[in-house]
Amino acid sequence: MEFSTQTTASLHQIKTAALAVGVYADGELSPAADVIDRASNNAVRNVVKAEFRGRAGTTLVLRALPGVSAQRVVLVGLGKQNEYNARAHAAAEQGFAAACVAARVAEAVSTLAANPIADTAMRARARSAAIAAGTASYHYDATFGKPDREARPKLKKITQVVERGDTAQAQQGLREGGAIARGMELTRTLGNLPGNVCTPTYLGDTAKKLAREFKSLKVEVLDRKQVEALGMGSFLSVARGSDEPLRFIVLRHAAKPAKKSKSGPVVLVGKGITFDAGGISLKPAATMDEMKYDMCGAASVLGTFRALAELELPLDVVGLIAACENLPSGKANKPGDIVTSMSGQTIEILNTDAEGRLVLCDALTYAERFKPSAVVDIATLTGACVVALGHVNTGLFSQDDTLADALLAAGRQALDTAWRMPMDDAYQDQLKSNFADMANIGGPPAGSVTAACFLSRFAKAYRWAHLDIAGTAWRSGKDKGATGRPVPLLMQFLLDQA
Ligand code: BES
Ligand code: MN
Ligand code: ZN
Repeated sequence: MEFSTQTTASLHQIKTAALAVGVYADGELSPAADVIDRASNNAVRNVVKAEFRGRAGTTLVLRALPGVSAQRVVLVGLGKQNEYNARAHAAAEQGFAAACVAARVAEAVSTLAANPIADTAMRARARSAAIAAGTASYHYDATFGKPDREARPKLKKITQVVERGDTAQAQQGLREGGAIARGMELTRTLGNLPGNVCTPTYLGDTAKKLAREFKSLKVEVLDRKQVEALGMGSFLSVARGSDEPLRFIVLRHAAKPAKKSKSGPVVLVGKGITFDAGGISLKPAATMDEMKYDMCGAASVLGTFRALAELELPLDVVGLIAACENLPSGKANKPGDIVTSMSGQTIEILNTDAEGRLVLCDALTYAERFKPSAVVDIATLTGACVVALGHVNTGLFSQDDTLADALLAAGRQALDTAWRMPMDDAYQDQLKSNFADMANIGGPPAGSVTAACFLSRFAKAYRWAHLDIAGTAWRSGKDKGATGRPVPLLMQFLLDQA
């Protein structure tokens, strides 16, 4: 999708397939809606009185209004005027894009970003407009026998009408939002692809393809032999249970005019379990298919790198992905097995289904060599996190208040929120093993916290935070599908540093 701006005094003369104008819930028209209302002999006011309530994100399509050049005027609900905020704006842009997709138009014009929001500047409004439109026009059909080409969204271009003085900010925001939207699209498609297509090899090939497309990216894909040489005994123990070869992916984005930064790179670490059956501690059958999404942390790293590279952000960023399957087999980990991690610490595997931490711990040790300024790992790590926070907030775990606050703020700004969870030392006791340096599970209480505590033992050399996206990376049920989260949060975090 393409995003651009235009400045126009006379909205009623814009030639487009669909023009969005905002209406507040109390029936108050936005300035743009007022212009269209006057040009059309009060067609807008009449329909608002009769049947449009203006709830945030709702839409009503009016065709061929007299005195208006646009083929359609789409009334878009903004919610109550005194409650109009960044979230209502994003819902409005998303509703408009969805209406455009339903009407099968190829291009459209929105006036919604021009509506002021107290604490949200034009650049941020434009950015979220692009992300919302990208989200609404996502379509998956990669694995249908005969993809229905007619069902593919036709929408290719949205133009925002802004005042001349806002043009530069709006264009910058749209550029950022467009890149984030394309990153999310990659993340969603990788997540939605089945485990027999999106294998560790496929993730490695996707990383290589990105590096061919973007000059600022370098990628190295390590195989089992190289991972053995590194001594990643914990990661290897999980991968051994599957015939599908493992991959350890190292991505690097370098700031363009080799801006020598004193601080080291930000390192993003993704859990890339391309299918998690649980191993010998086998999961129940009912929703096991959803464990194809157990590589969404890895997919969010790839999506973030795509956005980062497209924007050529002046930052050094490293991405690490530990990718393998977790299956039961004659070579799989058994409860009670003890493995030696790359750090030298030994781990008693009491539940083979707690495999995410077993692959991440070696990636966290590998991260030390970059002398990072911060490390953030992203993982669909625990069902317990879904119990604690549901599908609204990503779980954020960190012992570093500054880093935690930066990530929380980025999530709020990007409308991709996280909630900080505790990490008191007292929880570490639950990981005690009689036979190894630690156990890989801490029992039922505070399962997402003890998982984070496990990881913290491998992240002592740098500032570190952990994002548990088990509840936010995909939706179940009728609208099952990957969400692209937390790419917006991660990109905002990086934009804030660029
Ligand atoms: N990938 C799962 C976590 C998960 C489960 C995410 C369900 C989303 C929905 C992870 O590998 C796992 O199995 N975790 C176990 C840990 C337990 C054995 C301590 C869990 O959450 O049950
Ligand atoms: Mn598991
Ligand atoms: Zn898992």
